[in-house]
Parts: sequence; C-alpha cells; structure tokens
Amino acid sequence: MKIAIVGLGYVGLPLSLQFARSQVTVLGLDIDRTKIDLLNAGRSFIKHISNEAVAEQRQAGRFEASTDFARIKEVEAVVICVPTPLNKNREPDISYVLNTGKSIAPHLTKGTLVVLESTTYPGTTDEDLREVLEKGSGLKAGVDFHLAFSPEREDPGNPQSVVKSIPKVIGGYTPACLERTKILYGKALDTLVPVSSCRAAEATKLLENIFRGVNIALVNELKLVYDAMGIDVWEVIAAAKTKPFGFMAFYPGPGLGGHCIPIDPFYLTWKAREYGQNTKFIELAGEVNTAMPMHVVNRAADALNNHRKPVNGSKILILGLAYKPNVDDDRESPSYVLLDLFKDRGAEMAYYDPYVPVIRPTREHPHWAGTKSIVWNRETISAFDAVVIATNHKDVNYQELAAWAPCIIDTRNAMASIKTAPGQVVKA
Ligand SMILES: NC(=O)c1ccc[n+]([C@@H]2O[C@H](COP(=O)([O-])OP(=O)(O)OC[C@H]3O[C@@H](n4cnc5c(N)ncnc54)[C@H](O)[C@@H]3O)[C@@H](O)[C@H]2O)c1
Repeated sequence: MKIAIVGLGYVGLPLSLQFARSQVTVLGLDIDRTKIDLLNAGRSFIKHISNEAVAEQRQAGRFEASTDFARIKEVEAVVICVPTPLNKNREPDISYVLNTGKSIAPHLTKGTLVVLESTTYPGTTDEDLREVLEKGSGLKAGVDFHLAFSPEREDPGNPQSVVKSIPKVIGGYTPACLERTKILYGKALDTLVPVSSCRAAEATKLLENIFRGVNIALVNELKLVYDAMGIDVWEVIAAAKTKPFGFMAFYPGPGLGGHCIPIDPFYLTWKAREYGQNTKFIELAGEVNTAMPMHVVNRAADALNNHRKPVNGSKILILGLAYKPNVDDDRESPSYVLLDLFKDRGAEMAYYDPYVPVIRPTREHPHWAGTKSIVWNRETISAFDAVVIATNHKDVNYQELAAWAPCIIDTRNAMASIKTAPGQVVKA
C-alpha cells in the first residue's frame, strides 16, 4: 500500500514513520522545502524524533518527502495533518485545510481515501473539505472517493505514548468510507474506535481538549483560592490523586500553551453560535486560564518587593520557553506572554531553555525572534533579580538554581523537593 501524508509536523511526521514501520510506503507532502530536504537527507527537525528513526525508513525505501502534490495520483489514501490555528479575532482558521484540499483535488483519482486529522469543528470534513475536493476533482465523495475524519492523539515528550498503541477514533462520510478507513489505520495501529460519522469523530477530539482546558482552569482557580487560605494547592492535588476512582489530577501553571488546548475549544464556541448555542464552560475556562500570566507577574512583583526591588529595572529570567516539559514546542507558550508583560513594566528580560536555543519567528510575538537562551552558569544565573520557572524541564539543575538565584517564582512546583532558604521561593 502507498499513501500520502500531507503536513509533516508534530503530528504528520510520527504518523508517517509509524506507517512506514508497518510496511506501508509513505509519500510525505509539505509546502516547507527546508523540512522536505532535511527529511530526505534522513534527518529529523523535531527534538523527540531521532535522525535514526527517519534515516531507517529512508534507507528501507518506505518514506520519501516531496512538495509535488501531483504525486497524489500515485497513492491509495491521503491523510491531512496541517495546522488549524485561530485568526487574530480568535476565530477558526481552516485555510490550511482548504488550501490542502485545493492542492490535492486536481490529482485525486477514483477510489482514493482522503482522511482529515487536523483538529477542527464538526462539519469541516463533510461540508468544507468535501466541497473543495468535489469542486477541484469533479468527483463525488462517498461515490467516487472516500472521505473520513480521524483525530490525532499526540503526547509529545511522553516516552510512554507511542503512535502505534494510542487508540484511534475514526468516522466516515458513509459506512463504506469508514470501512476503507479501518483498513488503512488497521495496517499501522493497534486499536481503532469507529464512530458513526465524521462529525462525531471531530466532536470527540474537541471534547478531549475542552476537558483538559476546563480542568486546568479549575485547578488554576483553586490555586488562587487555596493560596488566599494559606493552603498549598500542590499538596492538595497530590493527596486527592490517591483516590483510586472518580478523580484525575490536573496541575496549575502560568497559563495554557501548545497548539491544541488554548485553541481547539474555541473552534466549538464559534461553530456553536451557528446553532444558537453558548459554550459557557469553555469561555469561563478561557478567561481563568488567560488571567494566569498576570497572576504570575503580580506574584513576582510581590516577591521582588520583599527584596526591596521594583519590577521596573529588575533583571528577570524566564526559565522554560517551551509550553510543557522536555519538548522544544514553544507554540502559544505563556512564557511569551510573561516576557511581554514584564518587559512592558520595565524589566530587563532574558530566558533559559535547553530545548529552545534561539527564538524562531512567531506570529504573535515577532519582536523576540532571534533572542538566544542564556548560558547556564553561576555567573549568569546569580545576575538575575528574579527567576520565574515557567516550564519544569527535567534537564534543568534545580539544586544549582537554588544555590545561585536569590529570588525564585515557581509556577510548576519544580522546587518542591529542593532545599531553599526561607522566602527564596514564591509559588505562583
Ligand atoms: N502537536 C500536537 O501535539 C497535536 C496533537 C493532536 C492534534 N494536533 C492537530 O494536528 C494538526 C497539525 O498539528 P501539528 O502540531 O502537526 O502542526 P505543525 O505546524 O507541526 O505541522 C503542520 C505542517 O503542515 C505544513 N503545511 C501547512 N500548510 C500546508 C499545505 N497547504 N500543504 C501541505 N503542508 C502544509 C506545515 O509546513 C507543517 O510542516 C493541527 O490541527 C493540530 O491541532 C496536534
């Protein structure tokens, strides 16, 4: 079997390699020439995917990357894994999905299966993508070609989470589309979870991400409430999670980050309006989570005040730029919001992240592009008036941090087991 995977990012690349390892020939398509050249040279551009993993499949002749969408006619199935961000008005931007549809449609042949994996609102596959594919190909979905939605479940940085063993939800445009989709994923993945429609599959993914967003907001709110009562929310969560049923631990932090949780819930909010429905939980959770960086700034201001220093003119280090530990993914990271908020208040800002040596251009924080991570040593760390732990990477030496930094604002409970001086660490 030969398939195409369109969009070779955090989702598309590991999926391509999993299919290739399962003896499926994979043509990876992307519009980013740099990625294509690196992959064809047997190199990875994602930290947690090794060069060897790519090189092995290149050498076996089971994986090739290209920018030539005309090659769609060589394959039996096309899997789309392109970005689905929000636009500047925080509305869904499905232009990447639609542009991909436009690129593949002219080359679509009868009998091909097209599966969308990008997280999106219910209706994207069977309305928006279907329309583009049918218009550009002259073929009819469910009759001439098959169409399906299957959400990706990636947990980057978690070594226990491997694409092969994560159950895969699949929904077809017709029962025949679903059967074709089962055959495709059955080649590479252990467990399939068929649902009745593309829309049910799209809605499943949104439920999963909304569940996280809402629960993180809940513990973020409890962090403030318990703190006011002199209770440590981290101690409470650790105790609550010993309950063997009916509880799942979520942890507070400096705000939401990543390509999914801060964004995907608002895809539903937008679509729900078309049906006259409100998504109050989603919006409330968004409000609570968005307020977190400002809370961290206020806590840092209090901590500096205790050292007789104002934020204005202080040297502040953000420790961790990636949005979660042990990955190099800095998309939507609250660290950028912290950098901006402190800078706006006159602080002199820098960051340290062993996974992000230099800041790449970002859409919302372009002014930080090119800034480099500081070097980790006694001299540099002790020069900061305050260090804000935004991400608890395991490669960071927190003992050294305690020995060198006079004032630490800890949003991740990273200093819990480290010996520190009274008042040296403030939780935020
Ligand atoms: N990253 C995650 O952990 C994760 C988890 C679950 C779901 N998702 C969803 O999967 C989708 C992809 O996310 P990602 O993290 O892999 O994004 P990404 O930005 O890492 O990768 C997307 C890739 O698509 C390419 N691309 C953009 N437009 C294209 C086009 N018109 N034709 C071909 N290629 C194009 C980009 O160059 C990039 O390489 C999103 O909808 C996201 O919400 C991501």
